[in-house]
Amino acid sequence: MEIKAIKENYLKQKESVINSKEVNELRINFLGKKGIVNELMSKLKTLSSEEKIEFAKEVNLIKQFISEDIEQLMSDIKKRELNERLAKEAIDLTLPGRDYKSKNKHPLNLVIDEISEICIGMGYKVEEGPEVELDQFNFEMLNLPKDHPARDMQDTFYIDGRTLLRTHTSPVQARVMLKSEGKPIKIICPGKVYRRDDDPTHSHQFMQIEGLVIDENVTLADLKGTLAYIIRSLFGEKREIRFRNSYFPFTEPSVEVDVSCFNCDSKGCSLCKQTGWIEVLGAGMVHPNVLTMAGYDTNKYQGFAFGMGVDRIAMLKYGIDDIRHLYSNDLRFLNQFGGNK
Ligand code: PHE
Repeated sequence: MEIKAIKENYLKQKESVINSKEVNELRINFLGKKGIVNELMSKLKTLSSEEKIEFAKEVNLIKQFISEDIEQLMSDIKKRELNERLAKEAIDLTLPGRDYKSKNKHPLNLVIDEISEICIGMGYKVEEGPEVELDQFNFEMLNLPKDHPARDMQDTFYIDGRTLLRTHTSPVQARVMLKSEGKPIKIICPGKVYRRDDDPTHSHQFMQIEGLVIDENVTLADLKGTLAYIIRSLFGEKREIRFRNSYFPFTEPSVEVDVSCFNCDSKGCSLCKQTGWIEVLGAGMVHPNVLTMAGYDTNKYQGFAFGMGVDRIAMLKYGIDDIRHLYSNDLRFLNQFGGNK
């Protein structure tokens, strides 16, 4: 085939090429090892040496022309293919996003926020502590040494010999005391706690808010006044409050505080076990052993502590008849709190 004819052939074939795959085929057809241009070379041996030089020159020119042209063609086609793909795969940014089904705060968070606000108003700071806690803080430093019988009441979830899921928020007392290095403290700590419990008023995971005040001249009267203020702020004057003697290894004296039953207005029902009262918190004056272990001078400092069940308070406030509703994630339940804002 004449060189001129090759060029015409190439230009003609090129016209029908529509995608990058076909450009490659065109390249192989003309420039491949067994392609049309290489085949020209076999003609060389039939030529005289002058003719050879002239012929080789022309072959190189056509080779160069075709390879440059194919390169250009390839880059044009790739560009076009990319634009086509971008147009096809385009995302419509004006489509509305997925709507969240519930926008209300969880009733437990509503209660935590409300109690936090009441306490912050009295000058308390909010602290946090780990849920996977050391035996040292959950028990030892709260005057609950190994084999103390009061540990049985909080038989719980151990991770290993020295770590467990905390059974109350009280370990935060010990942590904050150590951190405060003998100085006054006024904190609350909301958080999750874990125990082996499961009935309409107890769950294996529930929430507490711990309170701790350490200073000079802190008395039981301060504790009573504080708790009465918190509970009346939460429930109003209508609910009655009862203080009972109690026992906690980390407080002395210890009290338990009951609120009159919301379900039956203290007439007696299954929820309050016919007593008319529901226990909402434990409290007391910080035990001197606890203060001493954390490096406080008991001649100078006293303190009080309290721990309240957030779940119970939520149940009281919102008339929830089963604690398990709080953890079942049912939107029909959750949407009843605060409306769909
Ligand atoms: N930690 C106790 C409990 O979970 C409650 C409590 C806290 C009692 C602080 C006294 C002082 O039962």
